[in-house]
Amino acid sequence: MQSGGPNWELPLGRRDAIQASLSASNNNLPPPNSTIQNLIKLFRRQGLNVVDLVSLSGAHTIGMARCSAFKQRLYNQDGNDEPDSTLEITYSNGLKTVCPKTGGDNKISPLDFASPSTFDNTYFKLIMFGKGLLTSDQVLLAGNVEETMLLVKAYAEDYALFFDQFARSMVKMGNINPLTGYQGEVRKNCRMPN
Ligand code: HEM
Repeated sequence: MQSGGPNWELPLGRRDAIQASLSASNNNLPPPNSTIQNLIKLFRRQGLNVVDLVSLSGAHTIGMARCSAFKQRLYNQDGNDEPDSTLEITYSNGLKTVCPKTGGDNKISPLDFASPSTFDNTYFKLIMFGKGLLTSDQVLLAGNVEETMLLVKAYAEDYALFFDQFARSMVKMGNINPLTGYQGEVRKNCRMPN
């Protein structure tokens, strides 16, 4: 892989739906300002445990998020016009320059600013310094759930442990609730048909 990261044996032949459902997505995908309890609940609903939650969140070692996904943390996390107290202050100030209080919703910032296009464990190291971009990233440590806190620390210290678990959890995620029989299709092209 060009960006680094683990390789794994990918089971083939999953039958996927022919149509996507906005409401099913909205009901099952956690929002970026999720509490740790909500993340655990929504992952569990899909048969994914806390280890899967933390390791798969590590996918945020790559890519970007829009200002609209983290704005609340910068200006008004709890409805009292205060920033999220778990967000490190210099990082927060930098984010404010990309993500103003009003407007700029589609401006983007890296989920892992230290190495946004490399698959590594810096995502977890940044969380250890209060520099996780989304609430859903930072609460893995700051949410006071011991199991997720310990996993963040473990992955920050040991990239191989993270890589190994990420591969396992990706396979597990790929096996969630597949269609069977003649329902749906085995995709020859990952792109959803128009
Ligand atoms: C734990 C719950 C999760 C939440 C709340 C979450 C939320 C988000 C949000 C809000 C964005 C930015 C989207 C945008 O602004 O357009 C994002 C980006 C991304 N997420 Fe997640 N995500 C979660 C889990 C995952 C998982 C499990 C994976 C894959 C294994 C993943 C992979 C990615 C990637 C690669 C990007 C970057 C996309 C890009 O740069 O175009 N996320 N996520």
